[in-house]
Amino acid sequence: MADATKPPDRAANNGTANNGTANNGTANNGTAGQEPRAERVGEPAYRPRYAHIVGWGSYVPEKVITNHDLEQIVDTNDEWIRSRTGIAERHVAADPKETSVTLAVAAARKALEVADVPAGKIDLIVCATTTPEYAFPATACLIQDALGADNAGAFDLSAACSGFVYGLAMARGQILAGDAEYVLVIGTETLSRIVDWTDRGTCILFGDGAGAVLVAASEVPGGILAVDLGSDGSGGNTLILPAGGSAMPTSLETVSSGMHYLKMDGKAVFRFATRVMAASTRKVLTRAGYTPEEVDLVVPHQANLRIIQNSVLNQLKIPEEKVFINLEKYGNTSTASIPIALCEAIAAGKLRTGHKVVFVGFGAGLTWAACAIDWRTPIDKAEANWWKNTRRQATYSAAAARSMWRRAVRWVYDVLPDPEAKGQEARRDREETGGQEGTDEEA
Ligand code: ACO
Repeated sequence: MADATKPPDRAANNGTANNGTANNGTANNGTAGQEPRAERVGEPAYRPRYAHIVGWGSYVPEKVITNHDLEQIVDTNDEWIRSRTGIAERHVAADPKETSVTLAVAAARKALEVADVPAGKIDLIVCATTTPEYAFPATACLIQDALGADNAGAFDLSAACSGFVYGLAMARGQILAGDAEYVLVIGTETLSRIVDWTDRGTCILFGDGAGAVLVAASEVPGGILAVDLGSDGSGGNTLILPAGGSAMPTSLETVSSGMHYLKMDGKAVFRFATRVMAASTRKVLTRAGYTPEEVDLVVPHQANLRIIQNSVLNQLKIPEEKVFINLEKYGNTSTASIPIALCEAIAAGKLRTGHKVVFVGFGAGLTWAACAIDWRTPIDKAEANWWKNTRRQATYSAAAARSMWRRAVRWVYDVLPDPEAKGQEARRDREETGGQEGTDEEA
C-alpha cells in the first residue's frame, strides 16, 4: 500500500499544482485559464497532492480540579455540573511556568515523534489559541523557537474553539497549493488564567491542555478532503473577553471590574452550538461525498455533552459508538479539545486506516468549522527506538542553545556603542562648529 506519510516530489508539481479532486470542486488546480498541465508538451506529468495527518500528540497539565473541589470555591455541586455539562474534572496549569507555549511544545514534540519528522522540515506552524502567551509576539513563533523549527513560518489563529479545524483548513490550503510539505497545527490553552473563579456559570466548564497534529503533503489519495468554515460576528458579545484589546485597553478600572475575565451568555451559545454543529457537519459530508451513515468516527468539540447529544446524535442520527467524547475528564479545552480527543480516540483503537472521520467545532466569534477526512495514515506506527529518541532530544537541546546564542548576540549588539550613532554625533558637532574644527587652538 502507498505510504500517506511520504511527501510527494515537490519539483514534479512545479510548486503550484494541486487538484484536491475529492472536495467537489472547491479546490483549484493552480492553472486557471491555462491548458491542463498534463497536456502541455515538455512539462512533467501533473501530479495531484493531498493533505494527510501523519502525526498527533497531546499534553495536559498534571493538576486536576474535580467538581467536588469546585464545590469549595463556588455555589455549585457535582450533580448539577455532571447533569448539565457531562464534566467531572478538568486539568489546570497550576504551575506559573506552565503556559500555552510549554503545553503546545510538549504536544507538538509528540506529534513529530509519531510522524518521525524532524522539526527542521516543518514549513509552517499554525497555533490556534484563545489564550496566547502575549497579544504579540505570536505564540506560534515562541513554539517555533522552542522546537528549533528553523525553516517554518509561524502565526496564531484566532477562531476560539473552532480554531483547530480552521488551522487544518489553512494547512490543507498551503499543502494543496504546493506552498508547504509539512504544516504543524496546534491547539493550546491555559483557560484557567482567564476564567473568573468566582463565576459558577463559567469556571466549571473550562480546562487547560494542548493537542497538535502534523499535516503532510502526499500523492496518496485521501486525507483532509473537505472543510466548512463559518462565522457570525453579530454574536461576538455572547462569548467575549472584554478588556485588554483596543476597544477597552487594560486599566485599573477594567481589572477592578473583572473585565479581563471571560464573559459568556451560556444559553445563547448553547442554542447557537446545537444549530451549527449539525449544519456544518452535513455541509462537509456533502462536500466530501459521504452520507452520515458512512461516517466511522466523529470527533466533536468537547464543550457540553448535551450539545453533542442534541446535534451529532439526535439531529444527524450518528450512533453514540461512532462519536468520541472525553469531556468528562478535561472539560472544555477550547482549541485543544479536538486534537486531545483525537489522540485519545487513536489510543482507544477507535480510528483505523480507511475510516471516514469528521471533526466539528464551534466557538466565540461566533465561529464554526468542520472537516471530513479519509484517514489513510497507519495508526500502529513503529515505536521510536532509543537512538531516535536520543537524537531528537539532542536536536531540542541544540535548538535551545541556538536560541540562547541568538539572544546573546542581540544583547551584545545592544550594549556595544552604535557606530552609526557615533558618526551622526561627529556630523552634528561639525555642523555646530560650522566646519571650523581646530579653529580655537589655531587662534
Ligand atoms: N451550579 C449550580 N447551579 C448553576 C450553575 C452551577 N455551576 N450555573 C448556573 N446555575 C444555575 C443558574 O443560576 C440557574 O438558576 P436559576 O434557574 O435559579 O436562575 C440554573 O442553574 C439554570 O441555569 P442555566 O444557565 O439556564 O443553565 P443551563 O442549563 O443553560 O446550563 C451552561 C448552563 C452549562 C453554561 C450551558 O448553557 C452551556 O453549556 N452553554 C454553552 C457554553 C459553551 O459551550 N461555551 C463554550 C463555547 S466554546 C469557546 O469558544 C470557548
